[in-house]
Amino acid sequence: MSDLTFPPGFLWGAATAAHQVEGDNVNSDWWDWERAPGTPCVEPSGSACEHYTLYPQDIALLASLGLNTYRFSVEWARIEPAEGTFDAKELDHYRAVVDCVRANGLTPMVTLNHFTLPRWVAAQGGWTAKRTPALFERYCRRVLEALGDGVPWYCTINEPTAVASGAYLSGWGQPPGVVDYGLWRKAVAGLVDGHKRAVAAVHDVRPGAKAGLAIFSLDRITNAGGKPAMDLKCRVEEEVFLEGAADDDFIGVQTYTRHYLYMRRLAAPLTRMALALRPLDRLIVPRILALKTAAPGTLALPGARLTQMGWEYRPDALASVVRRIARFYPGKDLVVTEHGVATLDDRERVEFIVHGLAALHGAMAEGLRVRGYIHWSLLDNFEWAAGYRPKFGLIGVDRATQERTVRPSARLLGEIARTGRLTADQATVSPLRTGADRGE
Ligand code: BGC
Repeated sequence: MSDLTFPPGFLWGAATAAHQVEGDNVNSDWWDWERAPGTPCVEPSGSACEHYTLYPQDIALLASLGLNTYRFSVEWARIEPAEGTFDAKELDHYRAVVDCVRANGLTPMVTLNHFTLPRWVAAQGGWTAKRTPALFERYCRRVLEALGDGVPWYCTINEPTAVASGAYLSGWGQPPGVVDYGLWRKAVAGLVDGHKRAVAAVHDVRPGAKAGLAIFSLDRITNAGGKPAMDLKCRVEEEVFLEGAADDDFIGVQTYTRHYLYMRRLAAPLTRMALALRPLDRLIVPRILALKTAAPGTLALPGARLTQMGWEYRPDALASVVRRIARFYPGKDLVVTEHGVATLDDRERVEFIVHGLAALHGAMAEGLRVRGYIHWSLLDNFEWAAGYRPKFGLIGVDRATQERTVRPSARLLGEIARTGRLTADQATVSPLRTGADRGE
């Protein structure tokens, strides 16, 4: 392989989300969910990585690696802890974070909502409630005013699919964790509306900034029997949200793996028939959507190499997804806003980055407008219901001491960022095949 060169001005970064790193997000729905009996949460987030206070050192570390972009989220539950009460101290805090990012020579990318809701919004029905999109818009406008004009990129709502399905089809263990098709449909509509309002708010308050959805996406493979079910999954997990992104300046692409769905040949006509017959679709859609990573490897090819999350190890899934989204919106800018791997062995992360970037470069060589690559995550952090066991960080965190350890993968990504090039030498990593290779 020869050296792969990326365009000048490419965004090279790492991402975090407030609830996963800041700690003590006590007014949020997740804080309660982590403590409620019977939820899938294995442990509470607690003080997380104390990034709320340690952000200056974390941001300086990110900059010292050679990266040029930091994607982070602002926390609605801190900013508006009670309806209509905006906390000026918290708005100042996030303004200080933006200033710190810029003072380190980095480009800030701000996510307005990453999974969590203020407790009072959740109590009113969260995204299923009619009022929520308008309340979200009001909050976004306050944030946009407070952060000033130094933020060129805004992600609106992070992975609305994960929120809607996780909350109302129980797939990904989000609060309130019920199974209710009607509520799920309402949440989808609320999230799409909230997203559109946030884009309009960015355009209105900060006309110089770009706004986009951060979309959950997967590479998907199937056989003839599974095709109607997989098409449906793609439609409701990705396309309904993509359709709501027509006015976006960019699409944030977030891909970790691919899903493989095999069904008997007869399943195809049966699925088609059931979907055409109301009210059978109410029964079948949730079942089809529930066909996912509930158990490790459920949707991976038999014998596939799996990550710590039980997902198929598939760094190159990114390229097929970028191609698919570019076909959906020809000419729209794309930014990879998340791509990463949970592993105890950093050699695996190195390999993931190298192979992911090589595949992405292949797609870019076809003329696709990819503006950046932001790795998930800057730090080992609170992986939602799975707690602190999965390690996604370019930088390790010892939660007892809050000590940070820069991993070789971080140095590698920083070097690629600094030079704008993935060299043939860097790309020569021998694949780790099995858990035994990784010493598990
Ligand atoms: C989310 C992150 C999460 C990551 C790994 C994405 O779905 O945006 O918050 O930690 O995937 O699961």
